[in-house]
Amino acid sequence: MAGLARHIDPDELIKKLHDHPSHRTSHHSNRAVSHTTPYSSRYASATELSKFRIPHDGAPANVVHQLLKDELDLDGRPNLNLASFVGTYMEEEAEKLMIENLSKNMSDVDEYPAMMSMHSRCVSILAHLWGVQKGETAIGTATTGSSEAIHLGGLAMKRRWQERRKAEGKDTSNPNIIMGANAQVALEKFARYFEVEARILPVSVKSRYRLDPDLVKENIDENTIGIFVIMGSTYTGHYEPVEEISNILDEYEKKTGIDIPIHVDAASGGFIAPFCGSGGSKWNFELPRVKSINTSGHKFGLVYAGVGWIIFRDEQFLPKHLIFELHYLGGTEESYTLNFSRPGAQIICQYYNLIHLGFTGYRAIMENALANARLLSRSLEATGWYQCVSDIHRKKGDYVYEKGEKPYTEGQSSADYNAGLPVVAFSLSNEFKRKYPYVKQVSVSNLLRAKQYIIPNYPLPPNEEKTEILRVVVRESMSMDLLDRLICDICAVTETLMSSDAVDLAAWQPASASIEKQHSSRGVESKNRYLANRPMDDGVHRSVC
Ligand SMILES: Cc1ncc(COP(=O)(O)O)c(C=O)c1O
Repeated sequence: MAGLARHIDPDELIKKLHDHPSHRTSHHSNRAVSHTTPYSSRYASATELSKFRIPHDGAPANVVHQLLKDELDLDGRPNLNLASFVGTYMEEEAEKLMIENLSKNMSDVDEYPAMMSMHSRCVSILAHLWGVQKGETAIGTATTGSSEAIHLGGLAMKRRWQERRKAEGKDTSNPNIIMGANAQVALEKFARYFEVEARILPVSVKSRYRLDPDLVKENIDENTIGIFVIMGSTYTGHYEPVEEISNILDEYEKKTGIDIPIHVDAASGGFIAPFCGSGGSKWNFELPRVKSINTSGHKFGLVYAGVGWIIFRDEQFLPKHLIFELHYLGGTEESYTLNFSRPGAQIICQYYNLIHLGFTGYRAIMENALANARLLSRSLEATGWYQCVSDIHRKKGDYVYEKGEKPYTEGQSSADYNAGLPVVAFSLSNEFKRKYPYVKQVSVSNLLRAKQYIIPNYPLPPNEEKTEILRVVVRESMSMDLLDRLICDICAVTETLMSSDAVDLAAWQPASASIEKQHSSRGVESKNRYLANRPMDDGVHRSVC
């Protein structure tokens, strides 16, 4: 007897079994490569719209709108995407402003002078929030996100280093930049795209999964263009020790005369630390060595995706070489962004948020997110099934999980706890793993996905990759109701796993690659993603975002 078929081509199956003869015979009748408008009988004649080549004729707007709206139902729900740092909520008034200004382009400087004034005000507000010093002329710009801003900051450091070396008659062919192995992909991209050796230093339990100052000391030299220090590690939310690293660089300069700058990647922390503090140590322009800082307006700046910022503490740190003078539509403007056209509405909404919320409004939102993150962390640890790698819920100075320890709840505000992002990075406790060795941590993520939550499970950076973490970013939109449901659902899912035999949850792994993915991706297959840890110059490599 023939066994059950091992592989079924669903497109073939649908074509064969279709009860509409024209669909059966048509060459194009393939759901993978063309849409068939389901509303054909109501709004239009039966229409096939090819997906990968422009259809000869289009279809009515209402039909296409409904078609795409239906397809987009397959997307996750942004508010339940707890993996992302990027905001998914804006107030109605801000949304109104966004819609009213959707067609404005940031590059049309002369056409939109009012928008450009708001842009300049945002730059000034951020420079002051980040401690720019008296007498300094801060300069900065909006970007499409932190990635572009980081690349500009890196380029400025590279150019300044080259100019200094050239003036001294020294070799400029081997620049390097230092960052921790926890660096977000944008930082590694800078190194690779702009041909700077990335010295990626291992993180450890001792360094609290952050850039290790001791290793910085060992890895800097005359070719180091700068250090990327992260205010808010993407993996665990920890703030990196900017002041400590700055002190090390001061010592190094005293000994060698070599001045190594710091660029702070405050993608998330740039909108949290100014309002909630950074645990008592300096991180911003109060430290003379910090020459530039970036942030994502679309993360805790509370704007929808499409805006980042870079601020240089003074004009002198933005090399003239990076500035283009544009004579455009009647005016002359300076440009030093990588992108020319980019959305303007986000900048208007950033300004709206800044003057609508003010300092106290931002502080209240960030304190609330941190308090919710503490509650989630404590609840997870109280089950005994989980322990947190993040430590924003522990008393200031206490970084280590101890089994059965009474949770600290006495703090009045985030200042009484360890500083960091409202991120909860957690893993199954050692006791749980001993008792239920067959439960895979990734199954928690997969089962929660079935309930529509997106909570990634991934290994910590190289050197600590044996530890896998589940990570929840607590954004403004995580209400108490959602938090309550999430805690209940995590408990329910964990209990299901405990009471099942060794369940094979492979079925919950992401589905096989869609035809679109096969068309566009040359990357590593999803099932092998944990193995994709190749050296930088050997093509695709693993990163977390
Ligand atoms: C620390 C850090 N740097 C840079 C980025 C990239 O930011 P963007 O998505 O705004 O380009 C992220 C994004 O998560 C991040 O967490």
